[in-house]
Amino acid sequence: MLIVLSLGGSILAKDLDSDRFLKYAEALRNLSKKHTLLVITGGGEAARNYIGAARAMGADEVTCDYIGIEITRLNARLLIAALGPDAYPEIPASYLEASKALGSGKIVVMGGITPGQTTDAVSAILAEFLRADLLTIATSIDGVYSADPKNDPSAVKYDKISPEKLISIVMAIEMKAGSKSPVDPVAAKIIERCKLDTLVLDARDPTLLEKVLNEEAAKKSPIPEGTWITARK
Ligand code: UTP
Repeated sequence: MLIVLSLGGSILAKDLDSDRFLKYAEALRNLSKKHTLLVITGGGEAARNYIGAARAMGADEVTCDYIGIEITRLNARLLIAALGPDAYPEIPASYLEASKALGSGKIVVMGGITPGQTTDAVSAILAEFLRADLLTIATSIDGVYSADPKNDPSAVKYDKISPEKLISIVMAIEMKAGSKSPVDPVAAKIIERCKLDTLVLDARDPTLLEKVLNEEAAKKSPIPEGTWITARK
C-alpha cells in the first residue's frame, strides 16, 4: 500500500528534540516494512518564526512562503538524518522527482514545493499524482471540527465527512482572523477534486501513528481515531 503522509512540523520538530525525530523515524521504518512511504514534513514553529521575522521587515507573502519552504525542507533533512540508510538521500524538489525517488524502494522525505500553499497541499497533489491508497494528515489536533475548537466551545468533531463538507468548514474557518484551518484550502479542494480517501489524525504520539496506519491498511475502513474524509458512503 502506498501511504502519503503529511507530517506536521509542529509535531515532528517540536522543541527540535532529536529524540522525537528518532521516534518518528522508528515508526516510519516499521511501517515501511509493509508499505511504501512518502513523507512530507511541515515547518512548524521555526517556519512561523522565520516568516514572522521576514514579514516584520516588510517582505511580501511570496517571499515569506519561500522562507517557509526552506524550513520544511530543513525538517525533511533532519528526518532523513534520523532515518539513516532507510531514507532516500535527496529531497525531491518537484512532484516528478518524488515519483522517481519512490522507485528506490526507500522512504522518500520532502518538504514544500511552491508558494501559495502548505505541505498539506503538496501531500494531496502527490497522493493524487502517485495514486496513493491513503493520504494521512498527521497533526496536533484529533480531527476536523465543525468550527475552530479553540475559538468556539460548541464545535463538534466529525468521525467521517465528505470532501464537500470539508471545504465548507475550511472556508468558514479561513474567513476568521487568527483561526487555523485543520486542512489547507488548496489541499481540501484537491481532496474533493480527486476523491482522495484522507485521514486527519492526532499524531503527536509516533507509536499511535504507526498503529493506526497499520490497522487502516489492514482493513481499509473508517477507524475511531481522527476524521476520515471520504466521498464513499
Ligand atoms: P507548513 O506546511 O508547515 O504549514 O508550511 P503549516 O500548515 O503552518 O504547518 P505545520 O503543521 O504547523 O507544520 C510552512 C509554510 O511554508 C510555506 C507556507 O508559507 C507555509 O505556511 N509553504 C510550504 C509554501 O509556500 N509552499 C509549500 O508547498 C509548502
